[in-house]
Amino acid sequence: MKVMLSCGIPGVLHMQKLVLPLLGLAVLASGIGSMAQAAPPAESKKSFKKDVAPVLQRACASCHAGKSASAGIDVSSYKALMAKRTGEPVVAPGKSKQSLLTLSMRGEDGVAKMPPGRGHMREGTIKVVEAWINEGAKNN
Ligand code: HEC
Repeated sequence: MKVMLSCGIPGVLHMQKLVLPLLGLAVLASGIGSMAQAAPPAESKKSFKKDVAPVLQRACASCHAGKSASAGIDVSSYKALMAKRTGEPVVAPGKSKQSLLTLSMRGEDGVAKMPPGRGHMREGTIKVVEAWINEGAKNN
């Protein structure tokens, strides 16, 4: 009887001490697991569909879509955006500094700053589009 008491209770306490850290570890491990899954692969690229098209749709498409697109620049699809035209390319893959698309967002190199009037593009947004161009302007 004396042995049972002195052994049993500390035994239970011991279990609790062990179970809690183990639970903590399990939570941590699953956290790391899902983080690893969510993290983009090392050579993470900007996506046309996810990162660029929504920006163009929101900021440019009201004037640059369809047959009557201003300056003949149509941002309504990847194909239209990349279509060959006379003069400077709208998108020169790998070269954001030679692409009217981003030069116009910055108003650089004598390209009219877009969108016209107020509400210019934010630096962070321009950087995303530039990164996509410099990564090859893929239809991704
Ligand atoms: C409110 C209408 C409007 C919006 C919105 C707009 N544009 Fe324009 N854009 C024009 C007009 C009109 C022209 C032609 C006249 C000019 O050059 O100013 C033009 C011209 C351009 C040119 C040719 C400029 C040059 O100097 O050769 C580019 C490139 C361009 N837009 C890109 C964009 C981009 C990129 C966006 C979105 C960030 C955008 N535009 C948003 C109306 C618009």
